[in-house]
Amino acid sequence: MRIVDLIEKKREKEELTREEIKFLLNEYLVGNVPDYQMSAFLMATYFNDMTAGELLEFTMTMRDSGDTVKFDDIDKFLVDKHSTGGVGDKVTIVLAPILSALGMGTTKLSGKGLGHTGGTIDKFESIKGFKFSKTRDDVVKIANKTGIGLMGYSDKIVPLDKKIYALRDVTATVPSIPLIASSIMSKKLAIQSDVIILDVKVGDGAFMKDIEHAKELARRMIEIGTGAGRKVKVVLSNMDEPLGYLIGNANEIIESIEMLKGNAPKDLKEVVYTIAELALKAKGEITELSEGIEKIDAVINSGLALSKLREFIAESGGNGDLVDDYSILPAAKNKVEVFSNKEGYVSKIKAEEVGKAAMIIGAGRATKEDEVDHAVGLKILKKVGDKIKKGEKIAEIYYNDAKNVEDSKNMILDAYVLQDEKVLEPKAILEIIE
Ligand code: URA
Repeated sequence: MRIVDLIEKKREKEELTREEIKFLLNEYLVGNVPDYQMSAFLMATYFNDMTAGELLEFTMTMRDSGDTVKFDDIDKFLVDKHSTGGVGDKVTIVLAPILSALGMGTTKLSGKGLGHTGGTIDKFESIKGFKFSKTRDDVVKIANKTGIGLMGYSDKIVPLDKKIYALRDVTATVPSIPLIASSIMSKKLAIQSDVIILDVKVGDGAFMKDIEHAKELARRMIEIGTGAGRKVKVVLSNMDEPLGYLIGNANEIIESIEMLKGNAPKDLKEVVYTIAELALKAKGEITELSEGIEKIDAVINSGLALSKLREFIAESGGNGDLVDDYSILPAAKNKVEVFSNKEGYVSKIKAEEVGKAAMIIGAGRATKEDEVDHAVGLKILKKVGDKIKKGEKIAEIYYNDAKNVEDSKNMILDAYVLQDEKVLEPKAILEIIE
């Protein structure tokens, strides 16, 4: 088999066989295919797509490039929830304790933030002493006690994705739906779970800028999951504004805890409840999603979900008391307020711009090597649909280093898109695909 023939086949929109896909990827993994040939194949894929058969084989070969993790010794219905990445996206931190309180377990890989999007690892690591599980045995130990099994990505899981993603990044082939679908699903298929629930973010701050592309990504990921014999559900959720009000690491832990105390921002609540309802339905506990609301309300109102988060933090090396005492979390030394320079109804808050405004004061990373300042972040005070008067306070910036604060302020001002006509409050969940 010659690699150049496989590239030519893809260029001519012919279907590659399973053996050909396997050969290409496995040879690339061991260094026998140079980056320039893989780049050409990725670009041909960007333009010519993959058939269902090609996509499944591509994903399975990626998955099999490293370790796969089984959780047979966790005696619970296991949910793997994954978000395609957003701003203010603290869903996992709230959802996992709720699922645990509902008698389910969460098993998932979590990542660090990059660019304008945050990562669950950084958020939990704002808790002093908190150690993210690196091995399967650690995950099992903590999950058996708390129902929450979060594991940091390791180089041993789907190493091929890391290699191919780095190449996509420098060859303008990241925004290819089959390549995104296979990248995400190879990591989902590497971990055992009973249902995979994907939260595909749609809008300014997301990979998928519009609903049609988001639906196509959802369709391709369901196609892969079904082909691999897994149960996959998808929600498409709005990222034309950040989720909730707080952005940053320690900041987002606080907003998550507040939701578990019953003080939820409306949009965050809608996303968390919908995913928890999908999990309950997948487990067979309810037949209609709306039947889940009462059950979820009950575990929040009783404090059970919050106690699961407390346990998880303590089992992971942190001080669980922080759920009642936020002074245990790191706090920024300074605060600056942002006042609107225009007036009208908020029609959109460019999430990517807000994410970057948080990143440049240290809440996120511009490159993988950057250090994160867990204490800093933003609070937005106005959401889509709200009316703003000129001179009214719209945000607060919590910072330690003043270097980029002025730029951050300008980015927040620029992120707010206002209009004269009234704006309806947006829906957080745009579509559910079961
Ligand atoms: N997330 C991933 O894991 N891979 C992609 O290609 C895009 C988003």
